[in-house]
Amino acid sequence: MSRVRVHNFSISLDGFGTGDGQSLEAPFGHAGQRLHAWMFATRFWDDAGTAGVDNAFAERHEPGIGAEIMGAGKFGPPGWQDDAEWRGWWGPNPPFHTPVYVLTHRPRPPLEMDGGTTFHFVDAEPVDALAVAREAADGQDIRIGGGATTLREFLAAGLVDHLHVVQVPIVLGRGVRLWDGLEALEEQYDVEAVSSPSGVTHLTFTR
Ligand SMILES: NC(=O)c1ccc[n+]([C@@H]2O[C@H](COP(=O)([O-])OP(=O)(O)OC[C@H]3O[C@@H](n4cnc5c(N)ncnc54)[C@H](OP(=O)(O)O)[C@@H]3O)[C@@H](O)[C@H]2O)c1
Repeated sequence: MSRVRVHNFSISLDGFGTGDGQSLEAPFGHAGQRLHAWMFATRFWDDAGTAGVDNAFAERHEPGIGAEIMGAGKFGPPGWQDDAEWRGWWGPNPPFHTPVYVLTHRPRPPLEMDGGTTFHFVDAEPVDALAVAREAADGQDIRIGGGATTLREFLAAGLVDHLHVVQVPIVLGRGVRLWDGLEALEEQYDVEAVSSPSGVTHLTFTR
């Protein structure tokens, strides 16, 4: 059976997966780029980047993935459903190169992009969305791409097999929390932690 994986999901010390006040100008709200500065510094993101611990974790995002599931809040800023022209943040050739299932209460027809990415818009419970994505992934793994609300839903439903969370040493104070309602989640997993010289801690939860 293919696995459900999460990679590079970055949270603040106080557990926020994005900041407050998301908008077209501020996709992560008041968090800005602080949650992912560790990743932007790696070779995974930038050919001139670092090749150490952070890069080793970051590049595990790609191999073996046959489909992604993301929330409406990752696909666009609040209100994107009212813009018939909105095609995501990523330009004509998004970095997914697989089918991507966008969970939304206001679905629209699929969007075929360059490079093998097709966005499908689905209004479904996590377990049902996963069944559709699994079929499309054709034996490969499914990545849950976030944001925090969507990831929390999949964790609450017990659907995630491998979770890589990156704890970033910043205190955001407000935003969207990851862990709410997930009491004792760790009991379902083997948990490991690796500290990086960059200051972040990589946590893996593996079933
Ligand atoms: N920290 C990280 O590593 C990371 C990773 C990815 C994204 N992000 C950031 O996280 C933020 C988005 O996170 P978020 O928590 O605000 O939103 P999100 O999880 O991306 O999306 C939540 C929205 O998706 C729709 N949705 C979720 N489950 C659904 C279901 N079962 N059926 C139908 N629709 C469903 C609903 O939207 P509607 O009701 O509007 O349809 C819901 O409000 C963005 O700022 C993004 O940049 C962070």
